[in-house]
Parts: sequence; C-alpha cells; structure tokens
Amino acid sequence: AQKIIIDTDPGQDDAVAILLALASPELEVLGITAVAGNVPLALTERNARKILELAGRRDIPVHAGCAAPLSRPLVTAEHVHGRTGLDGIELPEPSLPLQTEHAVDFLIRTLHCQPAGSVTLVPIGPLTNIAEALRRDPSIAARIGRIVLMGGAYFEVGNITPAAEFNIFVDPEAAQVVFAAGVPLVVLPLDATHQALTSRDWVARMRALPGRCGPAVASWTDFFERFDREKYGSLGAPLHDPCTIAWLLRPDLFEGRQINVEIETRGEFTTGMTVADWWRVSDRPANALFIRSLDRGGLFDLLGSRLARLP
Ligand code: BDR
Ligand code: CA
Repeated sequence: AQKIIIDTDPGQDDAVAILLALASPELEVLGITAVAGNVPLALTERNARKILELAGRRDIPVHAGCAAPLSRPLVTAEHVHGRTGLDGIELPEPSLPLQTEHAVDFLIRTLHCQPAGSVTLVPIGPLTNIAEALRRDPSIAARIGRIVLMGGAYFEVGNITPAAEFNIFVDPEAAQVVFAAGVPLVVLPLDATHQALTSRDWVARMRALPGRCGPAVASWTDFFERFDREKYGSLGAPLHDPCTIAWLLRPDLFEGRQINVEIETRGEFTTGMTVADWWRVSDRPANALFIRSLDRGGLFDLLGSRLARLP
C-alpha cells in the first residue's frame, strides 16, 4: 500500500477525505497531523480524533502541529464549517489520546525512518506544518515521495478573498516554502474542487448506508452545503479535500498540466493567490501538476463505493 500522512484542519470535507483514505486498501495512513485552519488547533486535533474513532481506527496516531501560521495571525472559517469546525452531527468526545510528539517532529522522524521516496504527504489545510518541517530539516525534501495538496485557485479565483483560496491565504509564506521545495507537487485547486459538488441523490445514498460513517458524511455535507448555496447559489457541497485522496486512487479521473505555480505573499489585493502559468508564458520552471477538471460522476461513484465499506 502507498504510505500517506494526512495533514489536516477538520473541517467536514477534511473528514470525508480522511474516511475515504481509511476505506481504501491501496493506502496506508501512517498518521494524521493537525494544523490550525478552519478552526483553532485545539478543535482540529480533537476533530481528527473524533473522525478516527467514528471509523473505528484507534490504531492511527494523531499529532497536533502548529497553532498559528509562520508569520501572520490565524484566520479561521467558522462561517463555513461552524463553531466546532465539524458542525452537522454531534460526535462523542474522543477517548483516543493525542500523541505527545509535535506534528512537525513526527513528520521529520517518519520521513527519515521510512525508505526515501516512499511517503506521500497529503496536506488539506494551511501548509504551516509541512513548511515548518521543511524549514527545520531541509533534508526531508529529498525523502518525500510527493505532496498532493488541496489549495489554490486560478481561473475560478478565490473563496476567502477575490484572489485567494482559504488554505493558501491563511499561510502564504508556508505555501511559498512548499512550492519552492523541489518536491513533486500535485495541486487540487478550487478550479477542480468546485466541480466536486454533491448531489441530492448521492447524499441520500450516504444517509441510507447501514453503518455510522455514511449518515455522518450525509450530515456533514448537508451542513457544509448551506454556505455554498447562500454564497454561490450552487446546489450541493464542494468536497474539496477528498479530491486529493481520490487523485491518489484514480488519477485518471483528473486532468491538469505540469506548470509553474508561484505564491503571492505581498500583494495588496492578491496575497495568497496561486499564480499559475497555465499558458506557459513565463520561463519559470514547472513545479506542480495543477489540476483543472475532474470526472464528477466517476469521483462520486468512487467515494460512494468506498465509504460504503466503513463501519
Ligand atoms: C479548503 O478550505 C477549507 O475550508 C476546506 O476544508 C478546504 O480544505 C477549501 O478552500
Ligand atoms: Ca481542509
């Protein structure tokens, strides 16, 4: 199985991404690292433990990481995810303990003890933990197999400012470190993830699943949908973060280009923008596979059949 570490700020769509990974035998989740993002760290690490308990996976360690971006105050998104970050269904307080090791130390240690190139990082929140690990120990760059992240937007532009997507906007300096690290990068921006809209049918199928995970996914997506309906008038909730895991399982469901992507950190109106050289008009070297579209039907078939395997 492909070894992965999910770095996350759950988040309803983060939760679905984690469940999709747990339901997929092609992937081995070595650990979950929590970061501040949608809500503060104390909530994201707890939400991660709740999700693992829901899935009956107390064997996976959860490590708490950075409580704030590298050099800015934290911006959160309770307006999208609710007060707990995981509103939609009340889950019991987790009894699964939080690891004492900091997420950054866990990342560095794991990358050194696993064979070089064998671990894929899947960041689905702000990139603070990953950047901090790269800064503290630059030698890990050569040991990371690949980074498959949810973040950024170009043609579709922003969801937190007119120019920026939330994960990149929260910590653009961290994003800059990651995009410049020379590690193979796959980027799932809003351009792709806004196509991953749930349908009424699909949510009803999840709600009808016999286990406890399916109905939880239905409740989360119902809650999450409210924001997009009010904001964009769209029907359905965009399952941003699960696109990363889906890409690992079925890259054939996605289309993109290997291009240069730079992070704006100083723009008056554009801080946090992912400047994607889609038309290759600069001579800057390609550093990312930037995904622009996906097969919605194929994605939701995959998600539905995988989530059905969970308890
Ligand atoms: C991203 O921001 C968060 O609110 C979601 O969980 C996702 O990772 C979408 O912009
Ligand atoms: Ca997220």
